[in-house]
Amino acid sequence: MKQDRILVIDLGSTKNTDIAREIRSLGVYTEIHPHDLTKEELDNLDNVKGIILNGGENRVVDGVEIDASEALYNYGVPILSVDHKGSDKWPEDREEFIGLLERFVFDECKAEKNWNIDNFIKEQVKVIQDTVGDKKVLLALSGGVDSSVVAALLIEAIGKNLVCVHVNNGLMRKGESEEVVSVFGERLGENLIYVQAKDRFLSKLAGVAEPEQKRKIIGNEFVYIFEEEARKLNGIDFLAQGTIYPDIIESGTKTVKAVKSHHNVGGLPEDLQFELIEPLKMLFKDEVRACGLALGLPESMVYRQPFPGPGLGVRCLGAITEDRLEAVRESDAILREEFKKAGLEGKVWQYFTVVPDFKTVGVKNHQRSFEWPVIIRAVNTVDAMTATIERLPYELLEKITDRITNEVAGVNRVLYDLTNKPTGTIEWE
Ligand code: XMP
Repeated sequence: MKQDRILVIDLGSTKNTDIAREIRSLGVYTEIHPHDLTKEELDNLDNVKGIILNGGENRVVDGVEIDASEALYNYGVPILSVDHKGSDKWPEDREEFIGLLERFVFDECKAEKNWNIDNFIKEQVKVIQDTVGDKKVLLALSGGVDSSVVAALLIEAIGKNLVCVHVNNGLMRKGESEEVVSVFGERLGENLIYVQAKDRFLSKLAGVAEPEQKRKIIGNEFVYIFEEEARKLNGIDFLAQGTIYPDIIESGTKTVKAVKSHHNVGGLPEDLQFELIEPLKMLFKDEVRACGLALGLPESMVYRQPFPGPGLGVRCLGAITEDRLEAVRESDAILREEFKKAGLEGKVWQYFTVVPDFKTVGVKNHQRSFEWPVIIRAVNTVDAMTATIERLPYELLEKITDRITNEVAGVNRVLYDLTNKPTGTIEWE
């Protein structure tokens, strides 16, 4: 069954995403599109029931006030114009705002409430089966939320024609690679290729202290390894990626400049030609999580906090050494355990530890010690562009400090980072 669709047209609003999310939470499927959609592009979209012209402060592009295309005005479905060419803004009052959306979507557009995760999974399984047929699909399975949900969805759709490569770069959190194996080992059998590449990564990183260079080495090494594994396999036609809707929105529309460019597995050589499949590309993060749960993934995997591609590598500051990397990993595990016990898991957006590359003097077991400090970072954010620190209770900070200084080898001090973003970024490198 095809879902009814409402189009949110970006005419310079900063609230496209919020509007789209509200409509989806009413149970109706919606997508954000640029203002200059052509008739052909519109004709390729099924079941369009209504169009919202969503104007806003970025309405002037290159000195010209943008307007929706003729094709949009002439499409013949109800149109709601907000903050565009003199029309009213969205009501400030939440109840009025939701009321307006409901009247438009249900009374005027007569859209059906048929957007939900079970329907999404059913539809995607069919789309994937029709696209892939009996060919094979390759997926880089990091164990993060997005790639894990793609894996679960593809297993549902094509079973043993999915091949996953998990590269353990030695920069994963404690227990992370093990979880990938325990969750997917049985489902994938020999189609889960586990590459233990810790030594390879660490030797490439040895002595490298500059953050951007570290990131580049980690990113490139991953591509080399993934490429080597892909070459060993025969008859793979498709590459799956865990791209999600915010990645696409953030990559920039015509009125909003790109925030970040996203390359999940960027940089594969041109002679390795795959067709891309990105089954989550229209889902918001909370919908991705709901999809993962519906496909039977454990909560620990689905509600995992964000984790940077270069992993613990950018939390072991400066030139990475194995002993300091271990201090990052162990202190991070303690921090996560204590946050969980304190009921903060899932409440604080991101929390982790950092180990700098200097030592300080302390006293341990009645003797002088000369060891590293551990820095705790805990922040809340909506979009990771700005962030504020979490006001952690002192009792919790003291408990964590006590455990880290007693249990983690080579550490005699714990600090708490009080810096918002800006001026600090969330990560330290
Ligand atoms: P910053 O440090 O820029 O981080 O404030 C914002 C968010 O992005 C995450 N982050 C990354 N994620 N690859 C990623 O996939 C990366 O290279 C990367 N660097 C930072 C960071 O953890 C935070 O959630």
